[in-house]
Amino acid sequence: MTSDDLQEQVRRYYTGKVTDFGPTPRGVDWNSHEGQLLRFDQLLKLCDRRSPYSLLDLGCGYGALLDHLRAAGDPVSYFGLDLSEAMIDEARRLHRDEPPAPFAVGAATDQPVDYVVASGIFNVKQQTPDETWADYILATLEAMARMSTRGFAFNLLTMASDPKLRRPDLHYADPCQLFETCQRRFSRHVSLLHDYGLWEFTILVRTDR
Ligand SMILES: C[S@@+](CC[C@H](N)C(=O)[O-])C[C@H]1O[C@@H](n2cnc3c(N)ncnc32)[C@H](O)[C@@H]1O
Repeated sequence: MTSDDLQEQVRRYYTGKVTDFGPTPRGVDWNSHEGQLLRFDQLLKLCDRRSPYSLLDLGCGYGALLDHLRAAGDPVSYFGLDLSEAMIDEARRLHRDEPPAPFAVGAATDQPVDYVVASGIFNVKQQTPDETWADYILATLEAMARMSTRGFAFNLLTMASDPKLRRPDLHYADPCQLFETCQRRFSRHVSLLHDYGLWEFTILVRTDR
């Protein structure tokens, strides 16, 4: 399966979710708004939020991160990309008052930003073999590294979860292995956050040090 095939599978999955549940946490496959915000707060630890910065939200869904940033008063120039056109339609509809075109359909841009963050884009592998999905994750991380000048951050479900509770359609990663991969391939300055109370972890990769 190529990356394009996998992205098409992902696009179909999330289009189904937003069609069924609308622009809500359930519509992006989260089970609570609190969890969604908690994930954003881990990812945003990457950013120096005191002075103006640009941010690409890869897999932005209906743009919940933009609302979170506006509520916090961040001096951010925000751009959201999502594979699902239905998701982007909702994001645009909900953010009509935002400056032009903060949302687009797609998985990459050739306009580099300071930071790229991605929440939840690697969780649902469906029937894809683990090895194929791990290669897809790595290729996506390479793209995130290319698109960011200061760093990137992402989250994944953790292997340190109860095997009996794991779902076969979801991908659970080894946090230490991914930490080591990021250090080797991208930067010496990598943080692993595995202490925020969800069955997952967040990795921050700083490339500006
Ligand atoms: C779990 S949802 C989370 C949405 C949003 N980040 C949030 O937390 O509210 C993941 C979203 O990422 C999108 N997505 C998954 N992989 C992607 C990729 N490689 N590029 C762009 N969008 C992607 C999906 O279509 C879906 O809308």
